[in-house]
Amino acid sequence: MTHNPLPLSVLVVGSGGREHALVRSLLNSPAQPRVICAPGNAGIAGDVTCFPIAVEAIDDLVGLAQREKIEFVVVGPEVPLALGLADRLQAVRIPVYGPKAAGARLEASKTFTKRILLKYKIPTAAAGFFDAVAPAIAYVRGRPAPIVIKADGLAAGKGVVVAQTHAEAEAAVRDMLEGGKFGASGRQILVEDCLVGEETSILVVVSGRDYVILPTSQDHKRIGDGDTGPNTGGMGAYSPAEVVTPALFQRIEDEIVRPSVDAIADEGLDFCGTLFIGIMLTPEGPRVIEYNVRLGDPETQVVLPRLATDLLGLLWAAARGDLGNVTLAVKPEHAICVVIAAQGYPDAYAKGEVIKFPATLPAGVTVIHAGTATNARGEIVTNGGRVLGVTALGPTLQAAAASAYHACEAIDCASKYFRRDIGARQLNRGA
Ligand code: AMP
Ligand code: GLY
Repeated sequence: MTHNPLPLSVLVVGSGGREHALVRSLLNSPAQPRVICAPGNAGIAGDVTCFPIAVEAIDDLVGLAQREKIEFVVVGPEVPLALGLADRLQAVRIPVYGPKAAGARLEASKTFTKRILLKYKIPTAAAGFFDAVAPAIAYVRGRPAPIVIKADGLAAGKGVVVAQTHAEAEAAVRDMLEGGKFGASGRQILVEDCLVGEETSILVVVSGRDYVILPTSQDHKRIGDGDTGPNTGGMGAYSPAEVVTPALFQRIEDEIVRPSVDAIADEGLDFCGTLFIGIMLTPEGPRVIEYNVRLGDPETQVVLPRLATDLLGLLWAAARGDLGNVTLAVKPEHAICVVIAAQGYPDAYAKGEVIKFPATLPAGVTVIHAGTATNARGEIVTNGGRVLGVTALGPTLQAAAASAYHACEAIDCASKYFRRDIGARQLNRGA
């Protein structure tokens, strides 16, 4: 697919389920690259060598890539991208998949992105921009509730308040602009109309004006069954998301994906990496909720296993400017990922609990590690809110879900929690 020979050594940056799924897919490449990871987790360390370097330690990551003679770096999370890891790697001529800091602003600043969406007339919720309380509250009072208040900067997914009443919206405005909630991230805010509908995650591999849209997926952001309780990083996902019919997919490409990629190029952001477009499927049509500049977690865990195209070749083509020559092949199977979390997440939860895995797993099931570590006795223990992603491929979503849930029951740890209804929306629609 590409004129450039594939790289023989790859560094994956990150430590979550997304990165474990990336490592697995890269190891499956026919090019058989040497793969290393920083900092990784216990599951990744079972597959490849991990180096204990934090994702914020940009200098150390560049040094690692140089020392290990790495030919290609794949960056998982947004934080190192916003800190300029891709800029630094390019400066020492190491090819990287992931945008430079200028492009990472598309995720790091919601006001930056909103201005681009409005400027290029890409469908999105109407919004006002504020850094002072009085005009923000005057604006809130002029819009119908529910109404959405967003801190400008990165807030680990917590900087968005969907206020059901004007009073709640005003309190959120004050919390962010006066109360210092979210610190510097909340010094500027967006006040946005509330979009109603089903969400879908559209992951696009972008290289300048070229792009390849990955298979559709749907995340489950709330902690509780039936989409109740607080927002999380994502409690499970499935692919394909059949709510995106072929006609709707075409509309999303024409009205959102292509205009977004062109707008980003026109703005001079020189973007290479994933443009993750969070979309609300409203009765009036698809609307952009947000851009992220990296793969989704847990969307990656269901999208990558469905690719028949070599992931290494795809990401390398993007980094080398060859993406125009790539056509994507996708498997017909359905994929599901059920996240096993530590009880208490997204608030306080215990760490260090021993995880026991069954001797055998149902066919088609892969256990992806997220927040895991190895203790002094060599046992695998919990080390984060989202602990594992139990992923299954099957001929139908129903079959994949049955296998994944079977494995979830068989995995043991003191305070495991998982949603019982991942994929239910699609399954019920089919019923
Ligand atoms: P974000 O950090 O922008 O992804 O927002 C987090 C979540 O808040 C989204 O996944 C949506 O569920 C919700 N959200 C954000 N913006 C809106 C909006 N304008 N209308 C309704 N829900 C929204
Ligand atoms: N699963 C949503 C995200 O990665 O932001």
